[in-house]
Formats: sequence, structure tokens, C-alpha cells
Amino acid sequence: MIQHLRLVTAMCLVTLLVKLNVSADNPIWTYSCHTGVDIISDNSTDKCSTDGATEEDAKAAAYCFGPNNTLVNNTFTGYGCGKCPKKAKKGTCMSCPAWVEGSDNSNCNVWQPIFTYSCFESEVPVVCNNGTGVLLKDIHCWGPKPTYKGNNVDLTKSGCGTCEAAHVANSTWDIGDCSTCNYNNCNSAATFVSFLSVFAAVFWLCNRN
Ligand SMILES: *[C@@H]1O[C@H](CO)[C@@H](O)[C@H](O)[C@H]1NC(C)=O
Ligand SMILES: *[C@@H]1O[C@H](CO)[C@@H](O)[C@H](O)[C@H]1NC(C)=O
Ligand SMILES: *[C@@H]1O[C@H](CO)[C@@H](O)[C@H](O)[C@H]1NC(C)=O
Ligand SMILES: *[C@@H]1O[C@H](CO)[C@@H](O)[C@H](O)[C@H]1NC(C)=O
Ligand SMILES: *[C@@H]1O[C@H](CO)[C@@H](O)[C@H](O)[C@H]1NC(C)=O
Repeated sequence: MIQHLRLVTAMCLVTLLVKLNVSADNPIWTYSCHTGVDIISDNSTDKCSTDGATEEDAKAAAYCFGPNNTLVNNTFTGYGCGKCPKKAKKGTCMSCPAWVEGSDNSNCNVWQPIFTYSCFESEVPVVCNNGTGVLLKDIHCWGPKPTYKGNNVDLTKSGCGTCEAAHVANSTWDIGDCSTCNYNNCNSAATFVSFLSVFAAVFWLCNRN
């Protein structure tokens, strides 16, 4: 019994040494991918590495993954090294090769927050976009300034986007009477208070699921 154990241990050690030796000899390729989650404005990258029997094999195994940005309201938000995690639901995650036709394609999982946002239009929140490629900085709702005393419904109805864009589309009102705000549903009559915007945006982003 003891003899057996010794033999097994010795074999294990040999196998381990062989393995270590092989992986030490294996070419390792280092590249980088965007990593993290999509919520905070963070375009950071991290180092990744792969190994293989040859340097070409190591490069061929190098991937980055990220959310499928064409999927509306995608709940998969991770970015990282390698192929898509197994736990990602089919169609929600996309991976891209970090080595393409002889050149380094690091950071191919281009960082892009994806989410929908809403603005009030005629006192009802409407979804302003389909969730594709919207960056936090692109969130805008427009509406009359709190000081506006007029009753031009083209202005008071409010809506998605900036005052400038809305004014181009419909210029029956004075642009000076309009104000743009930058977070989800920020143009409701009750919440048209700009100093709260940062907190509200963070609160909304953290609670949006
Ligand atoms: C994010 O990083 C990529 C390269 O890693 C760069 O091409 C892109 O312009 C950056 N985007 C922003 C918004 O900084
Ligand atoms: C995406 O989410 C918004 C907000 O929850 C919802 O109104 C919209 O119907 C969703 N779109 C799809 C295609 O599920
Ligand atoms: C990404 O989403 C679109 C729309 O749902 C789908 O047609 C496409 O197959 C998805 N791509 C991947 C790689 O899953
Ligand atoms: C989502 O909207 C963008 C721009 O508004 C558009 O280019 C894209 O085709 C839309 N995607 C879908 C799936 O409707
Ligand atoms: C502005 O929008 C209103 C409807 O909301 C429409 O009746 C009017 O003709 C529009 N004006 C212009 C210049 O497009």
C-alpha cells in the first residue's frame, strides 16, 4: 500500500515537472483587452496572455470578449480577456480575435456602454433609443426652462435629445426658453433641477436592472 502511494506520488511529481517544463517552453503571447463592466465611463484595458505549442498557436488562441451591441436591452455587460464566458447566454456576448492576419488586434472588444434611456414627452416617459451604442455622455432630454411662462405646446411637450436638435426639427419656439438635461427622465416638470443630475444618473445606473 505504502509502496503504491510512493509510486503514485513519484509519478505525479514527474508528470508535474514535465508539465511545468512544457509550459515554460511554450511560447506565451501577451496582448490586451478592454476589461470590466459597461456602467462607469472606463475605457481601461488589461493585459492578457495565451500560450500554445508554437507562437502562432498562442496568437491564434488570443481573444477578447464584450457585449453584443446589436442586441436591444442586452443584460450581458462584461468585457475581458479570452472567449465569451460559458455562463453568458447565447447571443448576448461576442468575442473577437486579438491577432488578425499577422497583426496585433489587441483591445478589439471596443468598450461601448449599452443601455436605453427615457425622457418625458407630453408628460409620459418615452424610450429614446434602442440601447445600441449609447454612451453616458449622449443622454439628453429637452424641455422648457422652469422660468418659461408661455404655452407653446411644441416646447412644453418636451422630448428626447438636446434643445438644439429639437429646435432644428421644430422651430416654433425660442431656443432661449429651452433647457437640456443629461440623465434618465430628467425633463419631467418635477425633476428639472440640474444640480441633482449627477446623483440621479448614478442612482439610475446602479438600479437600472
Ligand atoms: C477606448 O480605447 C480604444 C483603444 O483601446 C480607443 O480606440 C478608443 O478611442 C477609446 N475610446 C474612448 C471613448 O476613449
Ligand atoms: C428595452 O427596455 C425598455 C425599458 O425598460 C423597454 O421599454 C423596451 O420595450 C425594451 N425593448 C425591448 C426590445 O425589449
Ligand atoms: C448579436 O445580436 C443580434 C441581434 O439579436 C443577433 O442577430 C446576432 O446573432 C448576435 N451576435 C452574436 C455573435 O451572438
Ligand atoms: C438602433 O439605433 C441606431 C441609431 O439610432 C441604429 O443605427 C440601429 O440600426 C438601431 N438598431 C436596431 C437593432 O434597431
Ligand atoms: C412643430 O410640431 C407641431 C406638432 O407638435 C406641428 O404642428 C408643427 O407644424 C411643427 N412645426 C414645424 C415648423 O415643424
